[in-house]
Amino acid sequence: MTITELKQEFIKLYGEGEGIRFFASPGRVNLIGEHIDYNGGYVFPAALTNGTVIALRERDDNIIRLKATDLEDRVTLDINDLGAYKDLKWGNYQAGVAEALQKDGYTIVGCDMLFDDTLPHGGGLSSSAGIEVATALAFATLSNEKNGIDEPVDMIKMALYSQQAEHEYVGVNCGIMDQFASAMGKKDCAILLKCDTLEYQHTPLDMKGYSIVIANTNKKRGLADSKYNERCEECAAGLKMLNAGLPDVKFLCEITPDVFEANKHLITDETVLKRVRHVVYENDRVLKSLKVLNAGDILAFGQLMNGSHDSLRDDYEVTGIELDTLVDEARKISGTIGSRMTGAGFGGCTVSLVKEEAVPEFIEKVGKAYNEIIGYAPSFYQFGIGDGGREIKE
Ligand code: GLA
Repeated sequence: MTITELKQEFIKLYGEGEGIRFFASPGRVNLIGEHIDYNGGYVFPAALTNGTVIALRERDDNIIRLKATDLEDRVTLDINDLGAYKDLKWGNYQAGVAEALQKDGYTIVGCDMLFDDTLPHGGGLSSSAGIEVATALAFATLSNEKNGIDEPVDMIKMALYSQQAEHEYVGVNCGIMDQFASAMGKKDCAILLKCDTLEYQHTPLDMKGYSIVIANTNKKRGLADSKYNERCEECAAGLKMLNAGLPDVKFLCEITPDVFEANKHLITDETVLKRVRHVVYENDRVLKSLKVLNAGDILAFGQLMNGSHDSLRDDYEVTGIELDTLVDEARKISGTIGSRMTGAGFGGCTVSLVKEEAVPEFIEKVGKAYNEIIGYAPSFYQFGIGDGGREIKE
């Protein structure tokens, strides 16, 4: 909805009054570099034009009220008891972020908030990172104003508080990619991010007549979070085994393919070996992507995307029939030069590079085939690449 519509909804819900403000932060699509952020690797996400917009107005008590435009739940948080809301079905991201900021000395200010989410929930496009980062920015802005601090909010810190909320509040040991992309995105650019040091660079996306098409499996999420944590543990086990011969290695992504091949005998568990192989070669694919994109070779980038998916399917085992079907069908379209799952996997979305004029055919044929094989329809999106977290002036 537009800002004007959101303001009207806000007033309907919380009543008339001055001082309504708007904060936004987007979701992301990761172009390549999957499941390596928590292994200190390079990732290459881009922020979307869609995500979360919050309408907010300060209160003069210790209460935070939360509501979303598309959900029935109404949640009230007590600022003096922010640790108490971990079991909320909706509202726990916001409570977790507020608690993380409070623990670090921010003054959490009571307010009424209305969230407008323009990405599918649980769809693998990091709608949750959008909620977290927008919430962090809103609370940090109010805190700075209360305390007379006249400096811009540090968005990298907001990404880190958001990740902390995922770890400590939600219970997912995620890497930093999603929150960083949401906080630091830039219009029409992808972000090359080195996840161990948080060094980053914005890279203009010159798609050379190709569109980024996102397809949603529409699969219900199920056990995704516990499987995600299981992969993190398998990587930690792999690192421990490699440390027997490579004691100085702190992150799996410090290892090049050559070093991996020379030391893989140290990994005694077949499953762990596959996980580590994915991580090492995926990091290498990101570095290769940068080279080919700098050389303007988009076809070679498409090939690397394909390689990424195949490795996530065979070695990391996070795809499943729904994602694999979308990718297989996408690759049958002659205008497709690369197709892969994006995000955590186990459902969620794929990202494909498709010749602009072939997009209608892509949507029709992939949609039809998926429906026939899986039994329900996928969704397709062509979101733009947008800016990261910001306050929106009316
Ligand atoms: C999820 C996590 C990210 C990242 C991806 C996989 O989106 O939140 O930190 O690990 O999965 O690349």
